[in-house]
Amino acid sequence: MGYEARMRAKADALREKGSAVILSVESSCDETAIAVVENGRVERANAIASQIDVHALYGGVVPEIASRMHVEAIDPLLDEALKQAGLSLSEIDAVAVTYGPGLVGALLTGVSWAKALAYAADKPLIPVNHIEGHVSANYVAHPDLEPPFVCLVASGGHSHIVNVTRYGSYELLGRTTDDAAGEAFDKVARVLNIPYPGGPLLDKLADEGDDHAYKFPHPHTPGKYDFSFSGLKTAVINQAHNLRQQGKEIDAKDWAASFRRCVVDLLVDKTLAAALDTGAKRVAVAGGVAANSLLRSELERRGKRAGLEVYIPPKRLCTDNAVMIGSAAFYRMMAGELAPLSLNALPALSMFG
Ligand code: KG4
Ligand code: ZN
Repeated sequence: MGYEARMRAKADALREKGSAVILSVESSCDETAIAVVENGRVERANAIASQIDVHALYGGVVPEIASRMHVEAIDPLLDEALKQAGLSLSEIDAVAVTYGPGLVGALLTGVSWAKALAYAADKPLIPVNHIEGHVSANYVAHPDLEPPFVCLVASGGHSHIVNVTRYGSYELLGRTTDDAAGEAFDKVARVLNIPYPGGPLLDKLADEGDDHAYKFPHPHTPGKYDFSFSGLKTAVINQAHNLRQQGKEIDAKDWAASFRRCVVDLLVDKTLAAALDTGAKRVAVAGGVAANSLLRSELERRGKRAGLEVYIPPKRLCTDNAVMIGSAAFYRMMAGELAPLSLNALPALSMFG
């Protein structure tokens, strides 16, 4: 029997048993990560090598550097993850890998490495969509959470409002028509001379500022649940330049607080409207921007006031990691999905049909 037929038999047996320990690999952007996750819910290991310090020197992710650093980081991460889990490779049931969306070279590093590992260790290989991974961080953080629920996914590359109708089944309710929320945070942070990635530091600075100090335009958005950040971002950056040209220094804390307030209000308004209109009882949040402290507190406060159950993962599961990939992989495998050895990286992979 060839590898693929053998793997199908192994995956069928795991599906029948209803349980699996999955080793998952994430390398779509500037974090290399390997995790071990049991039954889609229990985090057994979470090993991460971040490249942020290196990319910060260039003001953003340099794809070629990212790919090379993934190659260097990945082998030691396997040892670390197995050690954290207290397992040997033979005790792992399956290997999972992010195959898109993301930077092609970065994705390819993880995909080829995971294919080699799965083949050599004779384990089934499960393909995972990175955005689906972000949503699934909620399953690890909240063992009681089950679909259906509405989820805001806001990261450096994506901003979506998603209706999770069943495990692995997603309906797009709203999306950004231009920049992602994280991208807007990072670009506005730049005018405040905050190093890449600006989102987390801008968030800290904003905690000490007055969010009414500056007035920014309310962005016009085409669809009821869609976002647009590009106009707001440009207006905010231009206003900073104009003030500086007039010799006026801007107050970075107030500036950060006023901008954060605008973005968070927009994200929360639209997410709650989408959740309430679709009759959802639960609302969740995911992606790097879900680490934003105001977004977390506002979604919690306003979501509860609207009668919804609110699910927010811990910050470390919001930013890129492989635990979320291991969780999504479990439900993919339970639905009968496996990757062939010809699996390729798909930089523009969608999770909607
Ligand atoms: O999900 P993620 O780690 O990577 C992508 O898949 O893009 O998201 C990274 C993005 C960056 O733009 C970063 O600035 C933003 O998430 N981010 C934040 C915060 N923490 C991370 N944005 C605002 N406030 C934060 N606390
Ligand atoms: Zn991400």
